Amino acid sequence: MQVAVLNGVNLDVVGRRDATLYGGISLDELETRIYEWASQLGCHVRCRQTNSEGEYVDWCHDALDWADGMIVNPGAWSHYSYAIHDALELFAVPIVEVHLSNVDDREEWRRHSVIAELAAKRVIGKGPDGYKEALEFVVARASS
Ligand code: DQA
Repeated sequence: MQVAVLNGVNLDVVGRRDATLYGGISLDELETRIYEWASQLGCHVRCRQTNSEGEYVDWCHDALDWADGMIVNPGAWSHYSYAIHDALELFAVPIVEVHLSNVDDREEWRRHSVIAELAAKRVIGKGPDGYKEALEFVVARASS
């Protein structure tokens, strides 16, 4: 069981962003937790973060060859990147869209996600624990 966790634009500095929205956790701390949860669940994860949309798309293409599940938080790209939509559209394995903050309770433009229709599940506003819920979902799907 191999899961790709792809964090997008500005998530490298998530620890410096508004702690009331994002929890004040650094990307390193977040990825450490994700690796711990994955090992508890008996799956392998590869966490990646980039600020380059093209690189994000390249990593989606790479994951096509090995991932049994995709956990994606493209950050602001979620709201407008048809390029990332089209890359994610290629997957037959479950995709979970995660947002640390409650995007439905913020600015109007954050309420729309161009990738939502591709997601088997969306986990929104649950902070870092949202990634745990996403992992549990992907693992349960794979073993059902
Ligand atoms: C985010 C929400 C997006 O609207 C925002 O642009 C981000 C982070 C989240 O995890 O809450 O960068 O994806």
